[in-house]
Amino acid sequence: MNIRYLLNIALGICCWHGALPCPDLCNCYFGQDSTEVICNSIPISVFPAKGMPRNTTRLTIQYTNITTITGEDLQATPLLKELHLSNNELRNLSTDMLIEVPYLHTIDLTGNQLTHLPPRVFYHAPLDSIALKNNLLSRAEANWLPSNSNLTWIDLSGNRFQKIPAGILQNLGRLITLDLSENKLEDIPAGVLDPLTLLERLSLQNNKLRSIDPLAFNATYALSYLFLQHNRLEKLSPTLFQHVKELRYLDLSENHLRHLPTGALDPNVMFVDLGLNPWHCDAKMDYLWRWERKSIEVHHEATKAVCSLPAMLKGRPLASLSPDELGVKVE
Ligand SMILES: *[C@@H]1O[C@H](CO)[C@@H](O)[C@H](O)[C@H]1NC(C)=O
Ligand SMILES: *[C@@H]1O[C@H](CO)[C@@H](O)[C@H](O)[C@H]1NC(C)=O
Ligand SMILES: *[C@@H]1O[C@H](CO)[C@@H](O)[C@H](O)[C@H]1NC(C)=O
Ligand SMILES: *[C@@H]1O[C@H](CO)[C@@H](O)[C@H](O)[C@H]1NC(C)=O
Ligand SMILES: *[C@@H]1O[C@H](CO)[C@@H](O)[C@H](O)[C@H]1NC(C)=O
Repeated sequence: MNIRYLLNIALGICCWHGALPCPDLCNCYFGQDSTEVICNSIPISVFPAKGMPRNTTRLTIQYTNITTITGEDLQATPLLKELHLSNNELRNLSTDMLIEVPYLHTIDLTGNQLTHLPPRVFYHAPLDSIALKNNLLSRAEANWLPSNSNLTWIDLSGNRFQKIPAGILQNLGRLITLDLSENKLEDIPAGVLDPLTLLERLSLQNNKLRSIDPLAFNATYALSYLFLQHNRLEKLSPTLFQHVKELRYLDLSENHLRHLPTGALDPNVMFVDLGLNPWHCDAKMDYLWRWERKSIEVHHEATKAVCSLPAMLKGRPLASLSPDELGVKVE
């Protein structure tokens, strides 16, 4: 039931003349320069067009059974800036869906059943944020967006990507945040991230990454937060981050790393989490051991690297080892 409608009845106010429009079972909030409509967990299977305020700027339809939304539906809300459609039953979207919403900057399609999207699906609105988290996508195409797209944020986590979607990334030169966590990615080839010269935050945790090309981060100069935990990485190139200006946080925990090559964290990595890897604490760990000691001295921050081999050092934090135990010389 429309809460305002009930209130009006309760207060004995004339119901229709003064009442502002609002779709059945939804809640509407009329602010100074915004109108918000929220249709949460209600039994509808089609877009609630009836009663939709024409000046709606923020529309949320979530936890309902709507299966589709069209350009015609959104004609009802030409001033829309944000469209939140998480956790419905959307299976596909139409090419013209956003044709009548020229101010839309945010669209959230989290938790639907989308398997693929048509060309130009996000072409018509000046979007800066797209969430497609928890759908069934395995591809993301360049032609979803215009080539001068101003998108700064895209969440593609929890889908079925086996490869980094190089196509769509070509058009995302302004992207700042990319989330591809919880997919099935196996590698990061050279070149695919090169268009992302402004990218600051990259989430790749919970994939199946075995390898990262030594040139993968050749052009992501602005990268500051990199999440690679819970993958299958066995080694890293010593020059992997040489073109990154300042990596503030690098998470490599829960991988299969045994050694870290000399130079891998220099000169620009600030904090790193190396926990839950099978570190082999021998003389080859000289570099990491020194780096870790310096990090503790300067930042009071340990990398959480714990020895797995040799057996006599098993369970010891790398930083706690003496030069003799590690078999290195300190001048
Ligand atoms: C939106 O329309 C309603 C009437 O339908 C009006 O009361 C409200 O002030 C309008 N809001 C804006 C931001 O224009
Ligand atoms: C959606 O449909 C299912 C199955 O028909 C039903 O059980 C569920 O209650 C519906 N959800 C809403 C929010 O109406
Ligand atoms: C979505 O898919 C259904 C079934 O495959 C189809 O009938 C419908 O026309 C599609 N809608 C759009 C907007 O593409
Ligand atoms: C991106 O922003 C620029 C500058 O504000 C603008 O000229 C351009 O039209 C925008 N691109 C899109 C696709 O809206
Ligand atoms: C590395 O990035 C630069 C642009 O910064 C590019 O010109 C060069 O071709 C790239 N090198 C490789 C080997 O990909």
